[in-house]
Amino acid sequence: EALEKGGYEHFMLKEIFDQPKCIIDCMRGRLLPDKKKIVLSAINMHRERLLRANRFIIVACGTSWHAGLIGKQMIEQWCKIPVEVEYASEFRYRNPVIQPNDVVIAISQSGETADTMAAFELAKKHGALCFGIVNGVGSSISRESDTGIYIHVGPEIGVASTKAFTGQVTVLTLFSLALGHELGVIGQVEYEQHIDELARIPRKIEEILKKDDCIKKIAHSLKDARNSLYMGRGFNYPVALEGALKLKEISYIHAEGYPAAEMKHGSIALVDEDMPVVFVATHHQLYKKIISNIEEVKSRNGRIIAIVTEGDEEVKKLAESVIEIPPTLPTIVPLLSVIPLQLIAYHVAVDKGLNVDQPRNLAKAVTVE
Ligand code: G6P
Repeated sequence: EALEKGGYEHFMLKEIFDQPKCIIDCMRGRLLPDKKKIVLSAINMHRERLLRANRFIIVACGTSWHAGLIGKQMIEQWCKIPVEVEYASEFRYRNPVIQPNDVVIAISQSGETADTMAAFELAKKHGALCFGIVNGVGSSISRESDTGIYIHVGPEIGVASTKAFTGQVTVLTLFSLALGHELGVIGQVEYEQHIDELARIPRKIEEILKKDDCIKKIAHSLKDARNSLYMGRGFNYPVALEGALKLKEISYIHAEGYPAAEMKHGSIALVDEDMPVVFVATHHQLYKKIISNIEEVKSRNGRIIAIVTEGDEEVKKLAESVIEIPPTLPTIVPLLSVIPLQLIAYHVAVDKGLNVDQPRNLAKAVTVE
């Protein structure tokens, strides 16, 4: 086992640090920066069907569902096709409307989650194209798929999903860019800008990983918290959900993720000097808006921890601590902004002496209902 952990104390830490390499593996042969192209055989094989899709329905659970929320924003932005993101467990039982021109995307690390599989079977019965975004090669969901894209990040052992999430988001990015380009919705300049930036992402993740010691210290300050809030907006909203999920899964600290502007409709009532609030506040859309959300927390004495873009000055003035990440394009930022949140959750759990790789009550793959 020590050998498999490759010198890391836990599988989760290894999997977090493996992400630059995993993303390279995931993009290999698909992202061709020299040719300014993205090549996906799933699109080539089902071009007609995908180009005339009326709607995408993404079905998933847990972390994979969060990746789906990011996928929705990208597909809608670049393909102008409506997307719904559904909890597989709800979708399968609520007699949903599924039409033959719908494309149902199942996102699953294991490819064995019972609810996701059942939602996919239902979609197939209604004649939708079933598209799998899966890690487990030869898994049940991959076999049920009409087509799909493997994320190719290698086996994930830690129960809290990390590299599968960034792999899923990478595949969703490639897919939505490539389809948007085929549809003629995304302009050539924007398309090429994203291809170039995707190629730089593994190096940028490495830069964040170098800050692990500083992130560990910040995590230490969260160790005794009973509750916490995670806030983000736009593409960082699903990242906030994922950061909160990571913390609760392995550190057993109650954590809620919110779209930051929603906090005034409820969670702001919880803010006091004992409430850490983690803001994902990079320099993108809604940056100014999130500053005012941070000010609202500050004025109620909340403890602010923020993920910001390098060189940020405004959030720094308000926060107890900040973690800087390299600049990138707004659509791609989740691939970077989630990394410090994974590390925070990891270090809090280690600090508390908990079983990081096998947290209580959770399973790596939920193969029964
Ligand atoms: C379990 C795992 C999570 C995972 C979820 C969905 O709850 O502990 O890490 O996100 O299942 O799993 P899947 O394999 O379908 O992505």
